[in-house]
Amino acid sequence: MTKFHSLWVCQQCAYESVGYLGKCPNCGSWNSLVETVIQKEESSSKSSSNKQSKYSIKPISLSSIPSKKIPRTITKISELDRVLGGGLVSGQVVLIAGEPGIGKSTLLLQLANNMGETLYVSGEESVRQIAIRAERLGIKNKKINLLEETDVDAIINSIDSPSVVIIDSIQTMQTGDLSGLAGSVGQVRECTFRLLKIAKEKGISLFIVGHVTKEGTVAGPSVLMHIVDTVLWFEGDKTLTLRLLRAVKNRFGPTDEVGIFEMEDKGLTCLTNAEKIFLTHGRKLIPGSCVTSILQGTRPLLAEIEALVTPCKSAFPKRIAQGLDSRKLELLLAVLIRRCGIPLYDFDVFLNVAAGLKISEPSADLAICLSIASAYYDKPLPKGSIAVGEVGLLGEIREVVAEDKRLKEARRLGYTMPISSKEVNYLLESIKRFIK
Ligand code: TYD
Ligand code: MG
Repeated sequence: MTKFHSLWVCQQCAYESVGYLGKCPNCGSWNSLVETVIQKEESSSKSSSNKQSKYSIKPISLSSIPSKKIPRTITKISELDRVLGGGLVSGQVVLIAGEPGIGKSTLLLQLANNMGETLYVSGEESVRQIAIRAERLGIKNKKINLLEETDVDAIINSIDSPSVVIIDSIQTMQTGDLSGLAGSVGQVRECTFRLLKIAKEKGISLFIVGHVTKEGTVAGPSVLMHIVDTVLWFEGDKTLTLRLLRAVKNRFGPTDEVGIFEMEDKGLTCLTNAEKIFLTHGRKLIPGSCVTSILQGTRPLLAEIEALVTPCKSAFPKRIAQGLDSRKLELLLAVLIRRCGIPLYDFDVFLNVAAGLKISEPSADLAICLSIASAYYDKPLPKGSIAVGEVGLLGEIREVVAEDKRLKEARRLGYTMPISSKEVNYLLESIKRFIK
């Protein structure tokens, strides 16, 4: 008979306490005690045989292991396959993290439609609600079984031999061996360990849904990232239809790969030709707009920076950036003022990345500066121009990662006038040549 004991263990100093304490009595850290299963008592005969086996372990020579290509199961959702590195590996544990309402359940139900026998465990929605969604998505697969349950041990007992198990979501799961509430760090971690064990034993592909809040990470995804094989981050602006699925960790494929989807009436559709999706209007020449190329995983995408410069009536000019770091905007404005002589200290500056995209790459620096200069001089950039380059504090333009690849792709889409470190060395020079 297996028995579990739980203790509260400090995550900082490993101090053990029998009950929850706000502050660790040993190291003084606040809220660092996490409920943990620490002991597993088994019958004496079994534990002695375990001891025996402990002493008879032997390492295997690396060269004796035949190197085989990992067989993969294609999910038939092309953007998901791209992010997974070409399909699912048996026994792979995938965490799909994202804000509530972003589309995690929708994506996984669509995935279930394309797979063999699938067990969909829902701790959040009733089977009726899932059935309504399945109807909306046109799910036809007869091999999907639903389970409305939150007790992880009961779930594990009921797992027969499906090829895919979906747990929606890990924050609703709990084990009776811990007294903490569902969603606490201890519960989330222990439940994942138990699910992971059975997935590895039976060669099941396991998908775990984890919610994150706008502020970043709550109990869930952050404590699971090192346990699971793959972490996929599902993101996007909920008011828009565009969704990005980003691989932030992948033991079986590339990281930093991105899948692009659109949320429609009948679920998520793959945007395989997404190169131009982030551009707003048809290519009219408007002052304040500049196109750049950003790298999402291995694929270059075109993005549009929009700037508005208006005279400032107050002592403190406004600097507002959407989709960009506002400190980056402050820095580039300082370069434009000091190195290019544009008196932006008397102007409010508003900046936006079209289509709700977020840019953190320095490769967009030049496009940001040129869009502001174009708005200030009220003159559009030339037709077909694309700016790619990092701007230094001295006003110099630097080459960026995979510049040739970005410009080549842009040329294919009709952006035949590159503005980069190859054409101009300094920001001032580029403004004089392409705007003034
Ligand atoms: P959902 O998959 O429930 O999100 P999550 O599991 O991440 O919380 O998706 C919910 C949102 O998606 C909801 O606002 C409605 C929208 N949606 C569509 O636009 N089209 C659809 O076909 C479906 C199923 C949902
Ligand atoms: Mg959901």
